[in-house]
Amino acid sequence: MRVVSGIQPTGSLHLGNYLGAIRNWVRMQDSVEGECVFFLADLHSLSTHEDRDTRRANVREMAAALIAAGIDPKRSVLFNQARVPAHAELCWLLMGTARMGWLNRMTQFKDKAGKNREGSSVALFAYPVLQAADVLLYNATHVPVGDDQKQHLELARDIATKFNGDFGVDLFTLPEAYIPPAAARIMSLRDGTAKMSKSDPSDMSRINLTDDADLIAQKVRKAKTDQDVLPSEPAGLADRPEARNLVTIFAALSDVKSDAVLAEFGGSQFGPFKARLIEQLVATLSPIRERLLDLRDDATIDAILESGGARARVLAQPTLDAAYDATGLQRGL
Ligand code: TYM
Repeated sequence: MRVVSGIQPTGSLHLGNYLGAIRNWVRMQDSVEGECVFFLADLHSLSTHEDRDTRRANVREMAAALIAAGIDPKRSVLFNQARVPAHAELCWLLMGTARMGWLNRMTQFKDKAGKNREGSSVALFAYPVLQAADVLLYNATHVPVGDDQKQHLELARDIATKFNGDFGVDLFTLPEAYIPPAAARIMSLRDGTAKMSKSDPSDMSRINLTDDADLIAQKVRKAKTDQDVLPSEPAGLADRPEARNLVTIFAALSDVKSDAVLAEFGGSQFGPFKARLIEQLVATLSPIRERLLDLRDDATIDAILESGGARARVLAQPTLDAAYDATGLQRGL
């Protein structure tokens, strides 16, 4: 079993990232045998323009946030992609295998490019090929991600299968997305039909791991809801996306199913429910926030990423060598 996952170092970590992915990274780190591989997808961040200083600051900030959330860089291999050139190299080797039609079907590209397909970067279009390289390099078996990455992981499997078949090798392991049943898709606090996201212009739409207790309280109090009381069964949430989202968040934070939350709050108004939700959020997030504030300016973050990078380079090399060999490309000695 090999656990591998990544996150884009843009903006700060939000509750969707945490409940959908990072909390599972930490749980897997603590439960699986062997080291897990976690990285900041800084090569992916080239798909949108950022200046040099911002990009560097974002990588450090996100590394500090992951450590604050519980990733232990001694046990897990933690690094930024750019320190491991094998990611970019394998990505290019896979370019001959990935099909335009496959990439054209990627919903994340369609969402991000919107009407501006012609003006989008090639990196945004080819992004899922790099993501395939990210996991195939380490023979990932389990990739803990939120629901929005499922399609990218399916593409990685297609690329792996075609490469193995085209070159007659049994090189790449097929990775499996590991998606938490409870919190696969946390929605915006302002619109229950839109995903909670770093790129939403409204900060009120998301809870960041850097938000303090007052800001969390303010965001939850202002979170959109309807007029009705909470139902006593999950079926009663079917056409109530905002209510469903808040119940999902509550359930995920307390590690119970939505039924259990509704058994307690069914028939209640949103006021008392939100008050308890705020307590739960603050209890979970404030220790992470405090660690992050301490770590943020820690001069050792770069050294931590470099030492993780060195370990990752060793892990990645055999797969990269075998991929070059399979294609017949020669690199000299
Ligand atoms: P990114 O940076 O958008 O998000 C990081 C992780 O957080 C999950 N996530 C969510 N989960 C639940 N609800 C939400 N609202 C929510 N928003 C984000 C994402 O599913 C993801 O698991 N392409 C990836 C980064 C990446 C990667 C990889 C992941 C690059 N290479 C290889 C896995 C394996 C991305 O943009 O995630």
